[in-house]
Amino acid sequence: MLRGKHKRYEKLYLYSLNQQHPALHEISDEDFIGCWEEDGLAILFFHRPKRALVQNLARKLGLNLEDEAEVSYDEWGEGRKVKVLQIGPITLRPVWQAGEGLRFDPGVVFGSGNHPTTRLCLSWIYRLWKESGPFKKAVDLGCGAGLLSLLLTALGAEVLAADFNPLCVALTQKNLVINNLAQKARVIREDVRKLPPFEADLVVANLFKGLLLDLFGLPSFWTAKHYLLSGFSPSMEEELKKALWSGAKIRGREEKDGWVIWYLENKKGHP
Ligand SMILES: C[S@@+](CC[C@H](N)C(=O)[O-])C[C@H]1O[C@@H](n2cnc3c(N)ncnc32)[C@H](O)[C@@H]1O
Repeated sequence: MLRGKHKRYEKLYLYSLNQQHPALHEISDEDFIGCWEEDGLAILFFHRPKRALVQNLARKLGLNLEDEAEVSYDEWGEGRKVKVLQIGPITLRPVWQAGEGLRFDPGVVFGSGNHPTTRLCLSWIYRLWKESGPFKKAVDLGCGAGLLSLLLTALGAEVLAADFNPLCVALTQKNLVINNLAQKARVIREDVRKLPPFEADLVVANLFKGLLLDLFGLPSFWTAKHYLLSGFSPSMEEELKKALWSGAKIRGREEKDGWVIWYLENKKGHP
């Protein structure tokens, strides 16, 4: 995430290491953006080239530098630029854009608002809020950069946000802090399949088909009343529909650029 003198992202320098290590999150270099952990690997992100620093650190920690790359920030976001988002009366703007509204550091993780699923979730959160809210408690499963949690807390909910990627947890926390909304949210590093039953009115889960199927099979998942689910394409809908719990009914659906969002109401499971 952005720190110190860095006010935006231009070039990204990525270094992939063969193993994770806690010390990789504590690198004190002014150009360090963060450490992404996935599938046992650690990927370090910097604003400037840092091969010597990474090689030294890897040697000290007994790790191997396996790959490196230089990409522009726009390439990293698959060519989708980070922009100002308008959700009803609420504006969300990247920290480098002056103006009113919620501000966010988009970071290098998923969820900077440039993906159709994030935008679908944001607009449905607001829509549902007006039609069926307000909601006291909400859960953001796989919080990414934390934009959904930002909107939910700004609308007045107490939020539990979870992600297994430590960089997402740190960025979501930062984005809540810079908007003075941190006191309304708890951000935890956890596999969403391991969370206790939700005490929430609304669960938002922008994930992927396999993980949604896993969650559908857990009784602890079906303890809220309203659900917004995204992260899948139209061709996956039949399989997902078959796996839904019988108490959950699809009450809304929208498609954007090949991605789908469902709004579900859960009748039977809600306490
Ligand atoms: C598609 S992104 C959504 C990010 C954000 N909620 C949004 O809508 O823009 C999915 C997020 O889920 C996280 N994730 C994937 N599998 C997970 C798991 N099993 N447990 C926790 N988080 C997970 C990823 O790290 C990623 O940040």
